[in-house]
Amino acid sequence: MDPRRNPYAPGAGTPPPELAGRDHVIERAAIALDRIRAGRTARSVILHGLRGVGKTVLLNRVGLDAEARGFAVARIEAPEARSLPALLAPALRATLFRLRRIEATKSGLQKAMRALSGFASALKIKYQDIELALDFAPEKGLADSGDLDTDLADLLMTVGAAADERATAVVLFVDELQYVPGEQLGALIMALHTASQAQLPITMLAAGLPQLVGQTGRAKSYAERLFEFVSIDRLGTAAAASALCIPAEREGARFTDEAIDVILRQTMGYPYFLQEWGRHSWNVAGDSPITGDDARRATHEAVAELDAGFFRVRFDRLTPTERRYLRAMAELGAGPHRSGDIADRMRRNVTSVAPVRNGLIAKGMLFSPAHGDTAFTVPLFDGFMKRILPEP
Ligand SMILES: Nc1ncnc2c1ncn2[C@@H]1O[C@H](COP(=O)(O)OP(=O)(O)O)[C@@H](O)[C@H]1O
Ligand SMILES: [Mg+2]
Repeated sequence: MDPRRNPYAPGAGTPPPELAGRDHVIERAAIALDRIRAGRTARSVILHGLRGVGKTVLLNRVGLDAEARGFAVARIEAPEARSLPALLAPALRATLFRLRRIEATKSGLQKAMRALSGFASALKIKYQDIELALDFAPEKGLADSGDLDTDLADLLMTVGAAADERATAVVLFVDELQYVPGEQLGALIMALHTASQAQLPITMLAAGLPQLVGQTGRAKSYAERLFEFVSIDRLGTAAAASALCIPAEREGARFTDEAIDVILRQTMGYPYFLQEWGRHSWNVAGDSPITGDDARRATHEAVAELDAGFFRVRFDRLTPTERRYLRAMAELGAGPHRSGDIADRMRRNVTSVAPVRNGLIAKGMLFSPAHGDTAFTVPLFDGFMKRILPEP
């Protein structure tokens, strides 16, 4: 069929042609934001799940909706190597400039801008990656102590107060939150907590890998009172079928039931894989309807594409020892696995391979679903490890 009209969109953060099965999460997040803007109590949402389940597109969707409803949105993606203050400062600066366009009788915005200047200048010594144009002179004693805990709380309080004067709310949208180091994450949670206790309209909506739940709890035990943790998982049968069928219908095409069966079995309902299989099934099919045979031929292409892209980029970042660890895990199956069993497979003891496991967790390749258990953060990674390293 005509590749120019192919609607499917595999890719990290690429908006799908149909965001299937997530309406309730979108609604939950929207309710929390509206309540916070209205000065009512609400727990904001943290989305957690494996790679490719659709956290980023969901976060972006909620962010766009919020912007359209007049929220002041600050977008932050936490890469592995940058400090939180370095990411936050420019994002908040942009948000403050947007807030400035809304008229208000009080002068809280100036204060927030001064707080931001003080925050950035004082923390530059500790976090050398902060780069910020200082639009306003800092105010002595405001967010400029050089201690992240107190300065971030000061900063978010003033930003929240400026939003309040303008009858809106500031929402920090943070993707890949698991990469923020523990003490910086703790400072962020504490600052949001302080602002929430003062009933100021500032909050965070975040997404990250499954380890995020444990990380936030360890950073601040009261995190669960501040956030609702929503697990984003593979799609159920009906939603997965919609993700495939609705975009095709819009183009005047359809799948046979057998084709849907084949694709659901192969992809297990994981959104990234649904897009990949949808795309290839469309391209190999001669005409609508797309049949079971088309879907089977597409499997070949889809797997090759994932092996060269989605899986491969993660594999390339691994050391030889890390590869051996993951290959031993793959030998045991999809997982989760007991860490002891993995060590046994490598003929090593658990303590000697613990640093490798910790390194893989820090890189976002593995997580621990329960004490002593280890699992892949990338669905179907076991099969890939066996294809790329046939010898265990
Ligand atoms: N609910 C959904 N329905 C259909 N496709 C989806 C859905 N959520 C995500 N996708 C697709 O899955 C892929 C991965 O989405 P992404 O948000 O990058 O995942 P994550 O951030 O969890 O790794 C993208 O190609 C996206 O279009
Ligand atoms: Mg993502």
